[in-house]
Amino acid sequence: MKKLITLLLFIAFISCKKEAPKHGLITKNAMVVSARVEASNIGKQILQQGGNVFDAMLATDLALAVAYPYAGNLGGGGFMIYRLNNGDIGAIDYREKAPLAATKNMYLDSIGNVIPDMSTRGAMAVGVPGTIAGIFEVHKRFGTLPLEKIMQPVIDLARKGIIVTKKQEDRLLEKRPDFLNTNKDTILFAKDWKENNIIVQNNLANTLTAIMQNGSDEFYKGETAKKIAKFIQANGGIITENDLANYKPKWRTPITFNYDDLRVISMSPPSSGGIAMAQVLKSVENYDLNTFGHNSVKTIQVLAEAERRAYADRSYYLGDPDFVNVPQNKLISDAYLSKRMSDFSFEKATPSTAISHGTVAIVESDETTHYSIVDQFGNAIAVTTTLNSGYGSKLYSEELGFFFNNEMDDFSSKPGVPNVYGLIGAEANAILPEKRMLSSMTPTIVEKDGKLLMSLGTPGGSTIITSVLQTILNVHEFDMTMQEAVNAPRFHHQWLPDEIRMEPNRFSKETIKALKQKGYIINEERSPVIGIVDGILVLPDGKLEGGADTRGDDTAAGF
Ligand code: GLY
Repeated sequence: MKKLITLLLFIAFISCKKEAPKHGLITKNAMVVSARVEASNIGKQILQQGGNVFDAMLATDLALAVAYPYAGNLGGGGFMIYRLNNGDIGAIDYREKAPLAATKNMYLDSIGNVIPDMSTRGAMAVGVPGTIAGIFEVHKRFGTLPLEKIMQPVIDLARKGIIVTKKQEDRLLEKRPDFLNTNKDTILFAKDWKENNIIVQNNLANTLTAIMQNGSDEFYKGETAKKIAKFIQANGGIITENDLANYKPKWRTPITFNYDDLRVISMSPPSSGGIAMAQVLKSVENYDLNTFGHNSVKTIQVLAEAERRAYADRSYYLGDPDFVNVPQNKLISDAYLSKRMSDFSFEKATPSTAISHGTVAIVESDETTHYSIVDQFGNAIAVTTTLNSGYGSKLYSEELGFFFNNEMDDFSSKPGVPNVYGLIGAEANAILPEKRMLSSMTPTIVEKDGKLLMSLGTPGGSTIITSVLQTILNVHEFDMTMQEAVNAPRFHHQWLPDEIRMEPNRFSKETIKALKQKGYIINEERSPVIGIVDGILVLPDGKLEGGADTRGDDTAAGF
């Protein structure tokens, strides 16, 4: 953990030193913003060839799996929000699922204690991957270009090789011991990679070629499926060919809500993102944040208190809607939220011990990655995809050329015990066969006056929701450009632990002192970087501005 903190502090230091430009890339027609230049360029190339956002999604997603295996993936899952140029909106959920042989107490020992590392490292941590099913389902419904045209540039990238960046070198070095401990043999990514080295991934190129030729069935029912099941079981996991054959992505209705004159469209359960963001933004809507000022004491207070309350509810009520009754309308209703904020005072902090989940009558890492795309036809998508932790479970199939997720850790293994993000879960998110684990991923599209305004999202585990909502507020309340909005310093409260996490050395001493005087515990060490937000803003003249967060290697490309 210490090493990780040192590394992230270094990244934050470098980010702060960089002179950030006021505006991001501005283009007239179309834009892709993602974690890697190769992925943004491949997405752009697909758009230039006449493809739409959904064609570009398939290409960008797979290019991230090649160029950014830290979070881009074949062995993980994700969510996508879309808004068509006619105003139609929708969402697809390709979140991983618990295997059929999963049980509620599978990560507990005989006396009921959580077994260290079992839900985070190695084959037992792996949920049934959804990415290939999800992106192919999207292409089947909305795509216009043939698969060969979309996938060949990605396969070529894997064969030609990706250039290691400094940040990538640091991350690979940090995870090397985990790679060696988790895998039976050494793996491609455990080599001593240095900046500017080229990583060629021929085995991944072969897997992608088989998928291009045979479609997503290759991954779920074909030779690749057989190899995945055999590999996971040989490493002590429980995923079977049957689990893969049963996997289906799901079209979902997004969460929508208004904030001032904005309409926010975000991910519904099994992500907590849309509901929690709606709770926070609706709770603060009647406060004059613009007058309080960006990251002023009052703005931080009111947002932190709304976040505290929303995360308490998240922990209690949210889970896979196919298994539990999530009272989403009540949780985001004005009456409920105004009651929830009724004990808030600017005088002093509300301790988290005084906040439990609200009473609703019901019948019931910096390690993910996000990309946004707007095409030349006016369609927009926001996609967040993940292996959960950086490089997921660290389990890597040399034969297939990709890492497997450790998404099982996003379930509550034991109610009351925190996961890797410190999130406390409850019964609604308990493990059951074929259930999807609760997520914080918050791919989001914002409309203003009925027109597309923004597409955005971020990695960051539990901090995703707070990073996305602060970026929206930065544009809407504090008049920032997209680039300024994604670069601005961020803070985060998640109910437990009872503290405001702040990016270190990015908030004034006076602000921190004033917050401490009101009873807030400030932690500047836990999260040296909070989120790596990527977004696209439609400017008043119809042009697009990309915001590629300088905390990462993120890049905007467009035309
Ligand atoms: N694994 C991170 C998330 O889904 O929120």
